[in-house]
Amino acid sequence: MAMIKIAIAGTSGLAQYLAHYISTQTYHQFIFLSRNNNPGLAAKGWQVIKVDYNNSNQLQYALTGIHTVISTISGQAEIALIDAAAQRHIRRFVPSEFEGRPSTRPAANILDRGNRASLTRLQHYAQYGMQYAVFACGIFYERFAPGGMATFQLGKGTYIDGEGDYLMNIRTMKAEIPYFNAAGEPVYVCMTSAQDLARYIVAALDLPQWTTEFRVCGERMALGDIVKAAEIMRGVSFEKTILSDESLEHSLAYAKASGNVVQQWRLHHVLATTAGCYDFTTPNLHSLVNVNPQRFSNWLYAAWASAP
Ligand SMILES: NC(=O)c1ccc[n+]([C@@H]2O[C@H](COP(=O)([O-])OP(=O)(O)OC[C@H]3O[C@@H](n4cnc5c(N)ncnc54)[C@H](OP(=O)(O)O)[C@@H]3O)[C@@H](O)[C@H]2O)c1
Repeated sequence: MAMIKIAIAGTSGLAQYLAHYISTQTYHQFIFLSRNNNPGLAAKGWQVIKVDYNNSNQLQYALTGIHTVISTISGQAEIALIDAAAQRHIRRFVPSEFEGRPSTRPAANILDRGNRASLTRLQHYAQYGMQYAVFACGIFYERFAPGGMATFQLGKGTYIDGEGDYLMNIRTMKAEIPYFNAAGEPVYVCMTSAQDLARYIVAALDLPQWTTEFRVCGERMALGDIVKAAEIMRGVSFEKTILSDESLEHSLAYAKASGNVVQQWRLHHVLATTAGCYDFTTPNLHSLVNVNPQRFSNWLYAAWASAP
């Protein structure tokens, strides 16, 4: 494919992985859009354009010559970016929607972070020629890293970016897990490392045809097997608390009543898990690109081998 120019909005860990793979695996050019100057990124030779997402003219100007926008930002700022991209006749737009399939996300859930509104906007502009694609990847392996996702500058907006904030604490060897869903079936999730997700997205840049949803999955596992993998890695049996949807709903009601917002977010993440929001069985990007995702256990061993 001919060289294109890409704008990556946001500068978190995922944005930086994208930049890394664009610069090492392709001949495409890219810029970051950020609210800050980010001298650290500029020091790597990466171009950072400072933008104010409330200033539509400035946003449009920053998108001059851009072919594809990859957004890692959410909410009102992303809407403004989508509008500016459409004004600028950007060809392709990837929204910040790197989790489950949008169709399985519960309506009006706090986990949405404005994603539904962004998608509605993109569906509208698609009629006028701006393509978009969601990259569904399940949950990031990095949720189980020493130091949590925060170590990778990931998940700041999720309230579960600390070590042990989601399902299990590998250091203290404790798991709080809903093994079964409301129907009594084992809960499954698709998982991918953020790094592999970035490789998939970068590989998809060169595909001549885009669909509105690309699905990738490093490994699909039952929650019980995720804990087992961590137990084997640590060489000990974890202390396990088995959660039911009923007990989760009860805890959620309590978190709401006591105004504990962080706890509400955490419980919503677990409830979305048992509802199957991060599970799918039909990855459709694997056969189109040449990426070999890391298996969960291999990633886990590597991540914890050098844990402080
Ligand atoms: N599947 C998973 O397990 C998983 C886990 C975590 C995240 N994710 C996904 O990864 C993406 C990024 O999420 P995140 O939580 O890591 O990052 P985030 O907190 O949403 O921040 C991403 C970027 O948004 C910009 N930003 C933050 N607050 C902003 C504001 N108020 N106005 C405008 N821009 C703002 C920042 O860029 P600047 O500071 O450079 O402007 C930041 O780098 C999301 O799509 C999320 O769903 C997935």
